[in-house]
Amino acid sequence: MRWTVASDVDGTLTGDRTSLDRLAARFRQRRAAGDVYLIVSTGRRLEQVIGGILEEGLPEPDAVICQVGTEIYLPPFTKGSRPMEAWRARLAEQYRRDEALSFLAGIDGLVMQPDQYNTELKTSCYLDECPKPDEAAQVVRDRVRVHADRYQVVWSSGRDLDLLPAASGKGKAIRFLVEHVGLDPDRVVVAGDTGNDASMFLEFGKGIVVANAQPELLELAQSLGAHRVYRAGQRYAAGVEEGLEHYGVLDGAAPAR
Ligand code: GLC
Repeated sequence: MRWTVASDVDGTLTGDRTSLDRLAARFRQRRAAGDVYLIVSTGRRLEQVIGGILEEGLPEPDAVICQVGTEIYLPPFTKGSRPMEAWRARLAEQYRRDEALSFLAGIDGLVMQPDQYNTELKTSCYLDECPKPDEAAQVVRDRVRVHADRYQVVWSSGRDLDLLPAASGKGKAIRFLVEHVGLDPDRVVVAGDTGNDASMFLEFGKGIVVANAQPELLELAQSLGAHRVYRAGQRYAAGVEEGLEHYGVLDGAAPAR
């Protein structure tokens, strides 16, 4: 029976190249055997995922979710690839960028992220130069609350705040792919390290939190409980590998290097 593995990239797969190389070799083996469908689920843009496969040792995936779950890509992955239109159109119905921007107005110290991280479906800024970043994030959350049918706030690492369509996010994007491809929703394992991964853990019952995770994700792991989230003792890709072994996704010995 095939497993679906959906993993974040930065700080989850990346961070320790030696353990990533070992994990990538095991993924290659399981994918060649048809045992694993691998989804990379990230805040990066597609180009940066392709760059990561070429230069950072990221494993070749079966699908890529970019920009915090607002874009989904199927192979072949090229610089000219376009995200799945069905997903884009669904999100575009509920999201207006000018309205999203209005939720960020007048917050002292807020800095917009570079244009490449601000799209028609994602409005992102940094709050780490605000006098009190957590309080600034709370102000945005309070403003968005009455519009929760159309917008959501994702707060990560004490720095990044994303305003996304309510129907998006990594977890819901994976759910869409699972249905689109016909994967078994009970055999999905997700892995992450920060707040923008939280939606994956809320959406699916088998999670891996790596040892270097940020406090916001550790808190969520705590509240969901050990039956839903495996807290790896190891950091980065070694933690993902440990968790996949825990769930029986990567059984057998690691391939010789
Ligand atoms: C990635 C994205 C950034 C986002 C952050 C947290 O770093 O590039 O836009 O704010 O993830 O979701």
